[in-house]
Amino acid sequence: MQPEPRPAQGNHLPGEDLVRADRIHRSYGAGRSAVRALHETSCAVPPGARIAITGRSGSGKSTLLHLLGGLEQASGGTVSWPGLGRAPRYAPGLIGMVFQGPSLLGPLDVVENVALPLQLAGTPAPEAIAAANEALDALGLASLAGKLPAELSGGQAQRVAVARALACRPRLILADEPTGQLDGDTGRRVLDVLLQTAAALGAAVVVSTHDPAVAARFAMRWAIRDGRLDTQPAASPAGAPGASCTPSGDPLPLAAQ
Ligand SMILES: Nc1ncnc2c1ncn2[C@@H]1O[C@H](COP(=O)(O)OP(=O)(O)O)[C@@H](O)[C@H]1O
Ligand SMILES: [Mg+2]
Repeated sequence: MQPEPRPAQGNHLPGEDLVRADRIHRSYGAGRSAVRALHETSCAVPPGARIAITGRSGSGKSTLLHLLGGLEQASGGTVSWPGLGRAPRYAPGLIGMVFQGPSLLGPLDVVENVALPLQLAGTPAPEAIAAANEALDALGLASLAGKLPAELSGGQAQRVAVARALACRPRLILADEPTGQLDGDTGRRVLDVLLQTAAALGAAVVVSTHDPAVAARFAMRWAIRDGRLDTQPAASPAGAPGASCTPSGDPLPLAAQ
């Protein structure tokens, strides 16, 4: 049995935290070549939170998101998902992950890629494909449904990855630099869909970014520098903890069903 997590630092909303990290750290490699990607830190993501993790390249953003998503194991400390009820590996679809790098499967076309997590979570193929088409439509990608990943630009592939994360209707969205390969206008639209869909689903959103314009749309900011996380940086906005910066209340077609 795991020890009871200590109270995590950071901002809180009522309800059980979707994910809590208690004194975690992460190193890669061993001995003299070891890299400490994340120094000991505690943090929590409450239901409905809007959090932007800012930091330079190499500061540990992806490492932290992978740990929060249960994709990597911490070198020490505990990650738990009390608000999800189970660890993500036992509950596919509860966390929607947008990876920073290429993550689409080459042999599958776009709609099959977007439908795949749903199918892995047990959704029958026709429903999964319908939900995938809906998510692609919400992101303006319907015309790409039959294309293979190799036929997409980097920006298109990134938007497909966002559609894949949203199609599952997750409780928690972890998006690693989701607008990193997009021009300003496209990035804003993708963020609109992400935040509006999250609002309609009641999902929490954590993004990593080094773009101040992206971070400005999130009520909470966490700053990470050389693997050291600060969940209450001085530059944090004065808004209520967890308050949504979602630009409009109207749910998108994706979220309305
Ligand atoms: N798989 C890995 N093996 C070795 N070092 C890694 C690995 N992943 C990340 N790192 C190192 O950990 C640090 C943090 O990386 P990362 O979390 O990717 O930062 P960011 O996402 O902010 O760019 C960097 O020094 C990076 O080189
Ligand atoms: Mg990264």
